[in-house]
Amino acid sequence: TGAFTYDPGFTSTASCESKLTYIDGDQGVLLHRGYPIDQLAEQSSFMEVAYLLLNKELPDSATLDKFTHTITRHTMLHEQLLQFYRGFRRDAHPMAIMCGVVGALSAFYHDSTDIADPHQRMVASHRLIAKMPTIAANAYKYSVGQPFVYPDNSLSYAGNFLKMTFGVPAEDYEVDPVVESAMDKIFILHADHEQNASTSTVRLAGSSGANPFACIAAGIACLWGPAHGGANEAALNMLREIGTPDRIPEYIARAKDKNDPFRLMGFGHRVYKNFDPRAKVLSKAATDVLDKLGISDPVLDTARELEQIALKDDYFVEKKLYPNVDFYSGVILSAIGFPTSMFTALFALARTVGWVAQWNEMITDPDQKIGRPRQLYTGPTQRDYIPLDRR
Ligand code: CMC
Repeated sequence: TGAFTYDPGFTSTASCESKLTYIDGDQGVLLHRGYPIDQLAEQSSFMEVAYLLLNKELPDSATLDKFTHTITRHTMLHEQLLQFYRGFRRDAHPMAIMCGVVGALSAFYHDSTDIADPHQRMVASHRLIAKMPTIAANAYKYSVGQPFVYPDNSLSYAGNFLKMTFGVPAEDYEVDPVVESAMDKIFILHADHEQNASTSTVRLAGSSGANPFACIAAGIACLWGPAHGGANEAALNMLREIGTPDRIPEYIARAKDKNDPFRLMGFGHRVYKNFDPRAKVLSKAATDVLDKLGISDPVLDTARELEQIALKDDYFVEKKLYPNVDFYSGVILSAIGFPTSMFTALFALARTVGWVAQWNEMITDPDQKIGRPRQLYTGPTQRDYIPLDRR
């Protein structure tokens, strides 16, 4: 393989050192700064996890209040930025809008684009975390033709997002604590996941010195793909298409057929080869939310049955394919009332915390260099140019 190691998909290349997130794929372990994801999901809040990822330690109560206050100070969007939405078609995919609007943030917040200044980096980080729910909720409101709802900073991060998304009219909207808690849990479970494709994209974009808003827009673009963040949308669409448990064997057979490109969406993971600990938390949360909201959705029955059948099937056992975080999140998001097109936007919203924390870690790493992978050239050897009239 010449002078370079050939590693397509970077399956065995560490691109950085990081103190943020630890994954043991064989044991199904996921830790943020040492804390297990199930404990964080069950006992903490998204704001606590955001603080932890950004600032290395869990906050005490006064510090958390201060951090939450700082974030809520930045939830509004520049009025001029609201005009940006109106340029999109109403049927634009929310992720297309997110790519555009987040990419445009640097045009509005010049005072936080100097990456050499620690204060500006901190302000940009807070702005991104604070504004993402507003940006995502507006993408939804625009698609359904309703007026934008301004942030309500008296509410929790999740509660405010729900109100901005579902408030019609906003002043009458009451946040349901069950939904609020499920939303917060989903945000926690998506907050960071070490060097996945979108996070690596953010780091690679950031390694050139690009401003943080541009870097997060790059991450959003990468997350959109169905093999990454788009999988929750694809998983729910698949479960709906299957429709009833009796049709599961047909889809299992398709997933196993080498001549059929179909894959079971929400199954398999590059790193988890035992189980995805996030899927465990969400599997339970899906039942809780649907029970508490009094919703009976055949999609959940189909999901449970599909999981049971696949987990006993030789193909899935041999290839170590287990349900991943996206398998159950779609069921919950749909019960809350989100259209499938918003699922990846919600993932982007939550992952912004991880992207921002990883970007900060990279910028302050003394070993940081511009990311510049090499290649194995397989094209033609040198040849002489042939003028157009002789070709
Ligand atoms: N259904 C059927 N077969 C599968 C699946 C699946 N979902 N996933 C992997 N395989 C097979 C694949 O065909 C291959 O078989 P073979 O060795 O015979 O060629 C083998 O398992 C290994 O697959 P791979 O694509 O080489 O594995 P990977 O580590 O590159 O891919 C993955 C991981 C997540 C992209 C893949 O499992 C997949 O496409 N899953 C469906 C999409 C999905 O749910 N994505 C969400 C990932 S979790 C959310 C996140 O962190 O972003």
